[in-house]
Amino acid sequence: MEPDRKTAERAIREAYESNPGGWAEHSRHVAQACENIASHCKGLSGEKAYVLGLLHDIGRHAGVSSEKHLIDGYRYCSARGWNKAAQICISHAFMIQDINTSIGTFDVSEEDYLFMKNFVENAVYDDYDRLVQLCDALALPTGFCLLEKRFVDVTIRY
Ligand SMILES: [Fe+2]
Repeated sequence: MEPDRKTAERAIREAYESNPGGWAEHSRHVAQACENIASHCKGLSGEKAYVLGLLHDIGRHAGVSSEKHLIDGYRYCSARGWNKAAQICISHAFMIQDINTSIGTFDVSEEDYLFMKNFVENAVYDDYDRLVQLCDALALPTGFCLLEKRFVDVTIRY
């Protein structure tokens, strides 16, 4: 069961305090884009989409890292019973379900790497996974942008 909007917003505020960065503003824009799109889609909940978008990078709470933030987010959400949010913490980085498509560094243990590899291959994506992937690519910390601009931003940072 996913948290409500207030709980998710509190989680982001706390996470920002432990690791301040542009990622939190980026996450707010992702959430807003997810909600705006979902609210026009039959069968999707705007509120659920907002929460899942907001939490996708919550793993950043654990500090500055590369792909470690994916599994940190997965653990953070799993520990709270937020299972779909936990899945998206990992799935948002893999439009293609192959761990080798990542451009980041796997700054994790061998065990965690194998867990993530397995998870990515076997996850069953739904429209929320794909919506967060899309909106992640539409949002800079400063606001919305063309997909191409965000891809260049990611490339420069990694
Ligand atoms: Fe993101």
